[in-house]
Amino acid sequence: MTVESVKPTTDETPEAPAPREPVLAGGAVPLFGHGLKLVRDPLAFMSGLREHGEVVRLKLGPKTVYAVTTPELTGALALSPDFKIDGPLWESLEGLLGKEGVATANGPRHRRQRRTIQPAFRLDAIPAYGPVMEEEAHALTERWQPGRTIDCTSESFRVAVRIAARCLLRGDYMDERAERLSVDLATVFRGMYRRMVIPLGPLYRLPLPANREFNRALADLHLLVDEIVAERRASGQKPDDLLTALLEAKDDNGDPIGEQEIHDQVVAILTPGSETVASTIMWLLQVLAEHPEHAEKVRTEVESVTGGRPVGFEHVRALRHTNNVVVEAMRLRPAVWILTRRAVTDTALGGYRIPAGADIVYSPYAIQRDGRSYDRHLDFDPDRWLPERSKEVPKHAMSPFSVGNRKCPSDHFSMAQLSLITAAISAKYRFEQVSGSDDSTRVGITLRPHDLLLRAMPW
Ligand code: HEM
Repeated sequence: MTVESVKPTTDETPEAPAPREPVLAGGAVPLFGHGLKLVRDPLAFMSGLREHGEVVRLKLGPKTVYAVTTPELTGALALSPDFKIDGPLWESLEGLLGKEGVATANGPRHRRQRRTIQPAFRLDAIPAYGPVMEEEAHALTERWQPGRTIDCTSESFRVAVRIAARCLLRGDYMDERAERLSVDLATVFRGMYRRMVIPLGPLYRLPLPANREFNRALADLHLLVDEIVAERRASGQKPDDLLTALLEAKDDNGDPIGEQEIHDQVVAILTPGSETVASTIMWLLQVLAEHPEHAEKVRTEVESVTGGRPVGFEHVRALRHTNNVVVEAMRLRPAVWILTRRAVTDTALGGYRIPAGADIVYSPYAIQRDGRSYDRHLDFDPDRWLPERSKEVPKHAMSPFSVGNRKCPSDHFSMAQLSLITAAISAKYRFEQVSGSDDSTRVGITLRPHDLLLRAMPW
C-alpha cells in the first residue's frame, strides 16, 4: 500500500476512489474523548486500536488525532514526504532542548544536518568506537560485586551516556562529566514526560521542589554542553569525531553554523542517544534475569566464540544468539513506544483521508507485539530472528530505529554496544531480581522498568 497525495484528477487519469474518512475509535467520552484512556493505560490503549481500523480517528479533548495501526501503513507514513516531524511531542522537546537540533528540524536544514552527523555513525566508522565500548562494557562487570544489589537504572544510564559521550564527543574530560550528564538527563526526561501528558503550563513555574529539581537539571545539561564545546575549542584539537564535524559544519551559504545550532545539535544527539540505550539495557538485564535459559545460552555462545578470552568488539558479528536476544528484547520491550508526525498537505494513507495540519500517532510497541504479525507474539523467543524464520515477519513489523529520512542515525552504533554489553555481562554473571525490585513497565518518553534491582551471581 502506498501513500497518495490527494490531487485533483484530470481527464486523462482514471479516477481514483475518493479517500475514506477514518472511523472514530470506540470508547470516546464527552469532553475528554479518548484522553483519559490514553493517560490511564497508554500501552493497552494503543495496542487495542487496530481492532477499530488501519487508520482511526482519536479525540483528545477537542482535538482530532489520527492513529495508524498496521506495519504497512506505519512504514508508508515514515517514508512519505507528506508528513513531517511535528506535533505535541516535538513541540515540547523543542521548548526544552532547543529548536535548532537535527531531531526537530525539517526540510533543507534537516537534510544539511543529517549530512553533517551521518559520517560519525556510518557502518565503517563503528569499529573505531570498539575500544571504548569494550572498556565500558567490562568496567560494568568489574564494578558489580558478586551477590550485591545492582541499581539497574543508574548503571544503565551511566554506561549509555559514557559510551555516547566518549565516542562522539571525545576527550578525557568526559569521564567526569558523563556522571553529571546521566543524572541531569534522568531528571530532565522524567519532567519532560510529565509536562507533555499533563500540560499544566504555569504550575510548572511554581517554586516546588520537583520543578526546582527539573530546572536545575535542565540548566546544568545546557551548561555542560557549553563547557564541552568551549573546552574543545580551547584545546585547539580536532579529533575525527562528531563534535569536530559539528564545529566545522557550514550552512547552505558556506558560512560556519551558529553557536546556538552547535549547542542544540549536541543536545539533540546526546539526549535521544542516552535515554533509548539506557532503557534498552535495563530491559536486557530484566530479560536475562527472567529467562535464565537464554542467559546460559548467551554465556555458552560467548565462551565458544572468544575461547574464554574477554569478549571484544571483533566478536560481536559472530554472536548470533546474543544479537537475537537483543533484537527480541527490543521487540517486546521497545524503548521508543510512540512516534508522531504532522501532515504538511491534504493527503491520504492507505486510502484514508488525512487533512493538512493533522497530527498522526503510531506505536512501535503495539506494532511489534501484534499477534497478526507474530506467532506466539508475547513469548520471548530470540530464535524467531534466525534467518529462516525472520522471513515470516511482515515488512515494518520490526523497525525499532524507524525508516525513511528520520531513521535513527545510530542503528549500527546502538546495536554494536548493546550486543557487546549483553555478551560481557552474561559471560561473567547470571542475574536474579531481589526483593524491592519492580520490573513493571514505567511509561515515560521511553519505556523502561520502574525500578529494576538485580543481584549479579557468578556462574
Ligand atoms: C536502542 C537505541 C535506540 C533506539 C531504539 C532509537 C530509536 C530511534 C527512532 C525510532 C528514531 C526516529 C524517530 C522518528 O521517526 O520520529 C530515532 C531518531 C534519532 N536518534 Fe535514535 N535510537 C536509539 C539510539 C540512538 C543513539 C545512541 C543516538 C545518538 C548517539 C540516537 C540519535 C538519534 C537522533 C539524532 C535521531 C533524530 C534523527 C532525525 O530526525 O533525523 N539514537 N531514534
